[in-house]
Amino acid sequence: MTMDQQKEQQEENENQLPTLRKQFWQQQEPTVEAMIQAVSADDLASQDADEVMAMLPDLSGKRVLDLGAGIGRFTGRLARVVGHVTAVDLSQTLIEENRAKNQHYPNVAFICDDVLNLNLPPGSVDLVFSNWLLKYLSEAEVATLLGHALSWIAPRGHIFFRESCYMSLGSVNRASNPTIYRRPQHYAQLLRQAQGADLSTFRLLRSKSILAYINYENTPNQICFLAQRVSGQQQEQQMQGQAIDAPEHPLATKEATKAAAVRVGASTGLKEGQKVLEVGCGQGDMAFFLARHYQVHVHGVDDSPDSVYTAIQRQVEADHIVRRKLHFEMSAGLELHCEDDSYDLILSRQTLHTSQDKQKTLAYFYRCVKPGGRVVITDYCTGASHPPCPAPTYQQAPALATVDGLATMLREAGFKAVASEDLSQELIKTLENGLNNPQASISGSTHDLVQEQVRLAKEGQLVWASFTAVK
Ligand SMILES: C[S@@+](CC[C@H](N)C(=O)[O-])C[C@H]1O[C@@H](n2cnc3c(N)ncnc32)[C@H](O)[C@@H]1O
Repeated sequence: MTMDQQKEQQEENENQLPTLRKQFWQQQEPTVEAMIQAVSADDLASQDADEVMAMLPDLSGKRVLDLGAGIGRFTGRLARVVGHVTAVDLSQTLIEENRAKNQHYPNVAFICDDVLNLNLPPGSVDLVFSNWLLKYLSEAEVATLLGHALSWIAPRGHIFFRESCYMSLGSVNRASNPTIYRRPQHYAQLLRQAQGADLSTFRLLRSKSILAYINYENTPNQICFLAQRVSGQQQEQQMQGQAIDAPEHPLATKEATKAAAVRVGASTGLKEGQKVLEVGCGQGDMAFFLARHYQVHVHGVDDSPDSVYTAIQRQVEADHIVRRKLHFEMSAGLELHCEDDSYDLILSRQTLHTSQDKQKTLAYFYRCVKPGGRVVITDYCTGASHPPCPAPTYQQAPALATVDGLATMLREAGFKAVASEDLSQELIKTLENGLNNPQASISGSTHDLVQEQVRLAKEGQLVWASFTAVK
């Protein structure tokens, strides 16, 4: 199907969705293949479900709504760890199969209805969960459902959903397909726009591609979203702490990032197949470069949803060899969710300064890197003889550390062979070249910021330094 034909089908789908989806789901057999709309690979289905469950917040004793629950692939899993689950599905056949499988759990209730007809008391749910539901709803229906969810979810409760983005998985032949393949930005925008009657909103905490689908199907298009219900006031406070995203900043350009990647590759002797965590991956320039040139696997984490979704879009369009080596994740406040001892290298460029608690972040790096693995950090510091200057890419700046201070923190986190290098002269050169390059098209606010950085660096107040250390 051409892109135009696909677009035409999507528009048609949007209008006829309520009827189409009812017909479509009522015809489906109660099987795993029908649920995942693909030929089932047992390992994939179970790793996928484990990964989804691992994204959820602590649910002990909590009340969960499993929307579009189908035959209950998640209903049973949820029942084992939560206080109560209500499973909802519009297909009588599918909900009956769910009941047959899961009614032995004393804490599950089953409702056969369209999720848009649900009417629940305010604050009666701690988590609204859905796996592959919103892609069957029109944009207006998703917006309505998110609005309802804000009223159902108790303060500080959560919503989780997982969707196929960009395109179909395509391993099942379908006469009709009432599915809307949205871009993840679209879902993030719908989440941002949702507002409860009490002005509560959603704050996106985490969003990522499912790794199992990258490994088995070589596609990053299975994307999860975890958001929290926050009051209007909490949302404002969090906005103040967000990093300013300026891809045209001279340190963030493709050339500067590539030069940094070459330096990292050479200094750490990266080898094919190694695992790298990049904290602050932006739109993925460094990750793509490392994956292409060193054949390493890169897990890139950033707190900007727009940057991460751009990186995922590039991954979707990349050749199949590179595509398989990348995994991008958005995490608010750069909270990291990684397994212990799992990376050969942790990299962080121009990001650690945004951490409110650098010691805690470094302790986390230590835990996640393999014994003998390394950490390479390049970042802004403050000159030793000056009072802390504001972190220069942040709206509400955490205090910068000195070079010695950060080296001490690395040792205190447990790292050995800690070494640092002052690269401030290089910083000044890169920033001045950026300012003087007519092709750099640096926008007004970034231009002012860069000028200020040059001034502070020349006065010795702002230091650009690199650190290496070993676990
Ligand atoms: C792809 S299946 C996923 C089922 C299950 N969540 C899973 O991951 O195995 C989608 C399910 O959503 C249900 N569904 C679609 N639109 C719905 C709606 N508006 N209200 C309730 N259920 C809906 C379908 O009947 C189907 O069971």
